[in-house]
Amino acid sequence: MRQKDLISFADYSAEDLWELLETALQLKREHRAGIAHKMLAGKTLAMIFQKPSLRTRVSFEVGMTQLGGHAIYLGPDDIKLGQRETTEDIAKVLSLYCDAIMARVFGHEIVEELARYADVPVINGLSDLLHPCQILGDLLTVYEKKRRIEGLKLAWIGDGNNVCNSWLEAGPKLGMEIVVACPAGYEPNAKILEQARQLGRVEIVHDPKRAAQGADILYTDVWTSMGQEREAEERRKKFRDFQINQELLKLAKPDAIVMHCLPAHYDEEITHEVAHGPQSVIFDEAENRLHAQKAVLALLMR
Ligand code: CP
Ligand code: NVA
Repeated sequence: MRQKDLISFADYSAEDLWELLETALQLKREHRAGIAHKMLAGKTLAMIFQKPSLRTRVSFEVGMTQLGGHAIYLGPDDIKLGQRETTEDIAKVLSLYCDAIMARVFGHEIVEELARYADVPVINGLSDLLHPCQILGDLLTVYEKKRRIEGLKLAWIGDGNNVCNSWLEAGPKLGMEIVVACPAGYEPNAKILEQARQLGRVEIVHDPKRAAQGADILYTDVWTSMGQEREAEERRKKFRDFQINQELLKLAKPDAIVMHCLPAHYDEEITHEVAHGPQSVIFDEAENRLHAQKAVLALLMR
């Protein structure tokens, strides 16, 4: 892998993605076997958060510990990104102390700016536009459950949001078919969609049943993402029919898996019954965030 950063998958090839997944599988095997892999001993990751987080924060911090390094949490009130000093200066100063920066931000341009000015790798831990680390953990989960990625059909049910956009950047590159079912006006990013269409089979529909038909994977995420709280009421009305429930699951393949990046809002985008049912892999996804992120850290920081 030659990339300095992981901001989006746009500049990652299928080979790069497989290198990340194979590294993650190897690190997971070693971790389970109790084999230490302290390849980042003495190294420090700065973690900037403009938004809340459970999985991303904890898995990056634990990942750095397991790799022998250290992580520093910089919450919204610590450095006041965008208020106290420029993003450029933050990137330059952190590069003097730390060996990599992970950032969860509102505007995608903030993480791009960090990458532009930092001398060290910058990792996108979610922006309003993308969530690449989530998709790496998810691809690992799909591969473990299905033993392949190519040729699988993923039905995205709900908002064409950051997680959906990252699926569109990665899935078709690895030969997946993606059908997005969303209410009109909530489609994924137009530029990402256009690029995804050039890479493989991608379709946008407004009927969740049509998307779910024969799917190998049913995926959903919250109707209202972080930063959109003021739209929550309106979204609840518009997304009412975009729920993964038993009825929708029956339309997918009998061995279909159900995925959700979490956190979930039960009885909105997914029922508790399905999310905690036998076809759900939501906690495998959460676990795999750790192994996937360790692969990102190991490959970018080595
Ligand atoms: N899926 C995910 O990124 O979770 P957090 O928001 O808790 O980090
Ligand atoms: N789309 C969600 C993902 C959370 C992990 C959000 O941005 O809030």
